[in-house]
Amino acid sequence: MATTQLEVVDDEAALARAAADIVSDIVAANPDAVVVPATGETPLGLYAELTARRDTGGFDPSRLTIVQLDDYLGLDPGDRRSLFGWMQRALLAPLGITDGRVRRLPADGDPDAVASFDRELAQAGIDLAILGIGENGHLGFNEPPAAADSDTRIVDLTPETIAANARYWGRAEDVPARAITLGLRQILASRRILLLASGAKKHGIVRRALEGPVGQDVPASFLREAGAEVTVIVDRAAWDG
Ligand code: GLP
Repeated sequence: MATTQLEVVDDEAALARAAADIVSDIVAANPDAVVVPATGETPLGLYAELTARRDTGGFDPSRLTIVQLDDYLGLDPGDRRSLFGWMQRALLAPLGITDGRVRRLPADGDPDAVASFDRELAQAGIDLAILGIGENGHLGFNEPPAAADSDTRIVDLTPETIAANARYWGRAEDVPARAITLGLRQILASRRILLLASGAKKHGIVRRALEGPVGQDVPASFLREAGAEVTVIVDRAAWDG
């Protein structure tokens, strides 16, 4: 059963530093780690902090393998909304991680390709998953209701997620309606999980995930039953509301 540690920090800058301390320690102990990094706004400070530490010799990402967490479905190559593109801009390019070290989700969601993606991932295992939380409790794009043993798959995004993600792209009409996500089974099997949340808008869902009933209606609540060591870092606004 998981051990869940909660760290409440003052603000987003402190969250980035606290998360970077944990990621740096994990990577120092295991330079070949397989890492799943969330996109979204919450981890951007962490990725900037890791880039700064890499530049001063405090963090070496050169041997990591990066596994994609989620993406919209049906986008043309080069579409500005691609979450793979987001990951490249926020993390891979700044850290100098080349395509050869990245396992990309099958962009067309082909079932055979998805099944072999999961098989290969199960063999390697995920050493560290860096996650955000949706305002509806999703991890990646595991929209509620999501079973703890759900595999990597195509999902229809809920109206809540489409509304929440409209802030990235301008309007709800610009948010693709379908997505592909790593399954909760794959995420929860990670050896370490870091969940990050900041801002008052995450207050309600953070409390539900950590203190409410564990179940499919709040996929992030399953973190409390994961085999992994789970660290939750939230800023005061997310914790206190
Ligand atoms: C998005 C992504 C998730 C992300 C979460 C929170 O929809 N699919 O991977 O972690 O929702 O996003 P943000 O950090 O921008 O609040």
